[in-house]
Amino acid sequence: MPAPDLSIVVPTFKERGNVAELVRRLDVALAGIGWEAIFVDDNSPDGTAEAVKAIAAADPRVRCIRRVGRRGLAGACIEGMLSSAAPFVAVMDADLQHDERLLPAMLDRLKRGEADLVAGTRYVEGGSSASFSASRGTISRLATRLTHRLVGTELSDPMSGFFMMRRDRFDLIAPRLSPVGFKILLDIAATAGPSMRIAELPYEFGERFDGESKFNVQIGVEFLGLLLAKMTGDLVDPRFIFFALVGTIGLVVHLAALRTALFILPDDMADQFRVAQVIATFVAMTSNFLLNNELTYRDRRLKGFGMLRGFVLFCLFASVGVLANIDLASWLYVARSRWLVAGAAGAIMSALWNYAMSTLFVWRAR
Ligand code: GDD
Ligand code: MN
Repeated sequence: MPAPDLSIVVPTFKERGNVAELVRRLDVALAGIGWEAIFVDDNSPDGTAEAVKAIAAADPRVRCIRRVGRRGLAGACIEGMLSSAAPFVAVMDADLQHDERLLPAMLDRLKRGEADLVAGTRYVEGGSSASFSASRGTISRLATRLTHRLVGTELSDPMSGFFMMRRDRFDLIAPRLSPVGFKILLDIAATAGPSMRIAELPYEFGERFDGESKFNVQIGVEFLGLLLAKMTGDLVDPRFIFFALVGTIGLVVHLAALRTALFILPDDMADQFRVAQVIATFVAMTSNFLLNNELTYRDRRLKGFGMLRGFVLFCLFASVGVLANIDLASWLYVARSRWLVAGAAGAIMSALWNYAMSTLFVWRAR
């Protein structure tokens, strides 16, 4: 078998019922083209990887990367694309909402050297997203408008997960891409910058063939993180933005818990405020830990005993952070006597410290 011209990367999570149909349709649509399909499955509990491997056992054009202990659409796409040796790589969903008949035209554009990336779009003449529910359609259009405002991209459908590009261009920018979230195309376009020539082809976003969408609120929040990161020119890691967001929520939680504790504890109690403050600190640390586990480090989420261990570590590091914060702030206050500057510097320093320790030790990459 000659080496393929085109790798089609298909991220999957719980798509067992779709993979055979997708391969069948690719076979029809890509007749005469040397292609391979790389399924990147995040250890789906429904046996998607097994289904792909059963096909792969009989069809050498199909292979499966099974990732364990990780979750995320963008990260899966990046790993699949990185594993390609073909000159051109495409990304498409497994659920058949993306029109595979567009692939030959995309490839043609790239081969003729007219573009470095060809994106499928639902938002120009000839495209449509009619199969979206009303609410999902609104979210998608809102996100599109926000993106155009904030990051400035020529893509008419930056939310699309359907595109093809030159592999050499991808390899160049891959180290700078974020594995978080759903928006791989936007990240690629924004990271590559104006030097990447982009073309668009309209398509009709179809109905899901089998199974259900993995889109949820968290993915929406992650998307905001990606926008912010791109706005700051990648100065700020989206993960840190979430960490800071969780910390801000933690402050509100702390104050609410403090108020409640003061209300419940008897007024004549010795050390009433001190006890209330300790309770509030503990409640806020717990809420911060849980939110970070669900949001900031979702791709490395701790479970069971690991969660307990992580929580203890998190509290230890946070306590050191608080002490250092007070020290730095007091020192600055004595030296410059500007309460706002001193207080903010202390808070920022402890946030950075907590973030570094959390990333290195609590939710360390496996
Ligand atoms: N490996 C892996 N890991 N794959 C995932 C994950 C994950 O955590 N989450 C979702 N996928 C896969 C799905 O199995 C599917 O093949 C594809 O990514 C798209 O997921 P859907 O759950 O079908 O997304 P959607 O249809 O709601 O969203 C579509 O429209 C968006 C535009 O609004 C997708 O095309 C998105 O890419 C697109 O941004
Ligand atoms: Mn879908």
